[in-house]
Amino acid sequence: MSDDPKKMEFTRSVLFDFHGVQMTKYFTENWENIQNFQARPDDILIATYPKAGTTWVSVLLDLLYFGKTAPERQTSIPIYERVPFLEITFPSMDSGVDLAENLATSPRLIKTHLPIQFVPKSFWEQNCKIVYVARNAKDNMVSYFHMDRMTLTQPDPGDWNTYFHRFMEGKVLFGSWYDHVNNWWKKKQTYSKLHYMFYEDMIEDTGRELDKLCSFLGLSPSAEDKKQILYGVQFDNMKKNDMTNYSTFHVMDFSISTFMRKGKVGDWKNHFTVAQNKEFEEDYKKKMKDPTLQFRTEV
Ligand code: A3P
Repeated sequence: MSDDPKKMEFTRSVLFDFHGVQMTKYFTENWENIQNFQARPDDILIATYPKAGTTWVSVLLDLLYFGKTAPERQTSIPIYERVPFLEITFPSMDSGVDLAENLATSPRLIKTHLPIQFVPKSFWEQNCKIVYVARNAKDNMVSYFHMDRMTLTQPDPGDWNTYFHRFMEGKVLFGSWYDHVNNWWKKKQTYSKLHYMFYEDMIEDTGRELDKLCSFLGLSPSAEDKKQILYGVQFDNMKKNDMTNYSTFHVMDFSISTFMRKGKVGDWKNHFTVAQNKEFEEDYKKKMKDPTLQFRTEV
């Protein structure tokens, strides 16, 4: 562990069953305030399973809405303050609810990793726009493993093989990837203000996905604005930008791994053994029965 005293005050959390989902104290302690959060009709909720590309889409949305009117945001406010993480409560930091309530922007961009059944009801009552980002399970698992290694408040991930099995069993923070992506996908059928995006599509053609997002949001940025946005969200640019690479977030130990780690589709091939891949595929078929929800593990 790091010698940085700011990092010492955090302890690795322990998972427990919370209404059927594996959670930790840092995301449940403020539960009443989370559930009572008062959404406004123009709030935009960015919902993801952890490591699906939340930050990427957060920066994209922040640039879309405020890149021109408040460009100083990009160089002065870390992304986790521009787009608060609703359910987080860390010692000696403002809670996500407090940060979201104090956001002066309109719209307010708010991030959540909550499974759909935990989303505060006011978001539905206010008919808020929701942008959901999903990433294929294999790369999502690898990215989450490295995130859990370097984030000192996350449950101890153990070794890769242990983690591999825990992920498949949903024994990671925010529970089962399979339930998360499926339940949010189902919601699309009845809730028209939900835009479901895929990390792999973003990798394949960020410009195309930006266009789709704009048409969902009812925005029509100029070609020049789009160029600026696409430049701002390029992996290398976000990686070197301290306001988007989480280097200012003291809960993470960058000597273990980085937040902007690889940003690729297919890194799972560097982690999965042949036997693990076989086991994974068999299990996947049992859990992912909806033929309309398809993920790509290579692009
Ligand atoms: P890797 O660990 O595979 O590199 P989240 O923001 O949901 O925590 O997701 C983090 C993952 O998204 C990391 O994946 C990170 O590198 C990747 N990511 C963030 N910004 C990106 C970008 N601009 N282009 C591609 N991948 C990006």
